[in-house]
Amino acid sequence: MPRIPLRSRFRTALVTGAGSGLGRVFADMLRSEGVEVWGTSRRPESLPGGEGFHPAAFDLAAGDAAAEALVGQVEDESGGLDLLVHNAGYGVFGGILDQPLAVWRAQLDEMLGSSLALNRAAFVAMATRRHGAIVNVTSMAVEFPIPYLSGYNIAKAGLAALTESLLLEAPAAGISFVDFRPGDYRTGFNQTMFASPPQTLPAAAQRVARRLDATLAKAPHAERAARDLRRALVQGRSGVVRSGSFFQAVLAPLGARLVPLALRRAVMARYFGVR
Ligand SMILES: NC(=O)c1ccc[n+]([C@@H]2O[C@H](COP(=O)([O-])OP(=O)(O)OC[C@H]3O[C@@H](n4cnc5c(N)ncnc54)[C@H](OP(=O)(O)O)[C@@H]3O)[C@@H](O)[C@H]2O)c1
Repeated sequence: MPRIPLRSRFRTALVTGAGSGLGRVFADMLRSEGVEVWGTSRRPESLPGGEGFHPAAFDLAAGDAAAEALVGQVEDESGGLDLLVHNAGYGVFGGILDQPLAVWRAQLDEMLGSSLALNRAAFVAMATRRHGAIVNVTSMAVEFPIPYLSGYNIAKAGLAALTESLLLEAPAAGISFVDFRPGDYRTGFNQTMFASPPQTLPAAAQRVARRLDATLAKAPHAERAARDLRRALVQGRSGVVRSGSFFQAVLAPLGARLVPLALRRAVMARYFGVR
C-alpha cells in the first residue's frame, strides 16, 4: 500500500516535550512526513533546530496562561494549528506519605491542570476551522495503575477522561481526539521520577522501583510508538490507541476485561512484589 504522507492531513503540529524520548520520535516522524513541527522543552535552546522544526518554550508548571499562550504563539507563527500531540509529562515516585501533599498537588496542577488548558486552547483554535486532531499521550497506567506513582496515575487517568469527554461533547467538530496509551518504552522517563534516592524508600517501594527499571530496560524502542501514532493519524482514528509490546498493548488489556477485579489486582500486586 502506498504511504500516505501525513502532510496531506496536517500541515502543522505542536509536540510538547519534544526534546527526548517519545516526544522526540513523534516530532521526527511528523517532520519526515513534511509536517511543520513546533516542539517544546523547558530548555528550548537544547532542542535540535533544522528545517521544519520550530523550538518553543513550555513548562507545565507555568499554569493556564502559559498553555494558552503557547497555542496562540503556534497559531500566529504557523497560520493555524492542525495537530496537537500533548506528550510532556513526568512521574513522581514514592508512597502517598513519602512526599509532602504539595508535591502531589503540584503534579496534578501541572500534568492535569495545564493539560486541560492546552487541550481547551487547541480545541477552540481547531473548532473554528472544523479541522484538526488532539492526541493526548496518557499511559497504560490508566488501566493498570502503578504502585508508588499515585499522582501520575491520577493525572493520566484524568487526561484519558478529558479526551473521552471531548470526544463525546464534540463528535461533529471535525476534530479527532486520541487517547494514546503507551505501555513501557525504553526512554529516560524513570531517571527523572525519583524525588528521593530509591534506597531511602520503604522496602516495598524499592521492589517496585527495581521492577520498573527492569521492565523499561527491555521495553521496545520509542520508534515503535511513532509508527503506532502515525498509523492512528493516517486512519483518522479517535478514542483509545494502545501502543507497546504485544503483551502490554493487546494481551493484558484483553485479559483484564475477562478476569474479576480482585484477581487482576492480585496479579498486579504479585508482579510488583507489593504483597
Ligand atoms: N516511557 C514509557 O514507558 C512511557 C509509558 C507510558 C507513558 N509515557 C508518557 O510518555 C510521555 C513522554 O515520556 P518519555 O518516556 O518520553 O520520557 P522523557 O524522555 O522523560 O520525556 C518527558 C518529556 O516531558 C517533558 N516534561 C517533563 N516535565 C515537564 C514539565 N514540567 N513541563 C514541560 N515539559 C515537561 C520533558 O521536556 P524537557 O525536560 O525538555 O522540558 C521531556 O521532553 C510522558 O507523558 C510519559 O508519561 C511514557
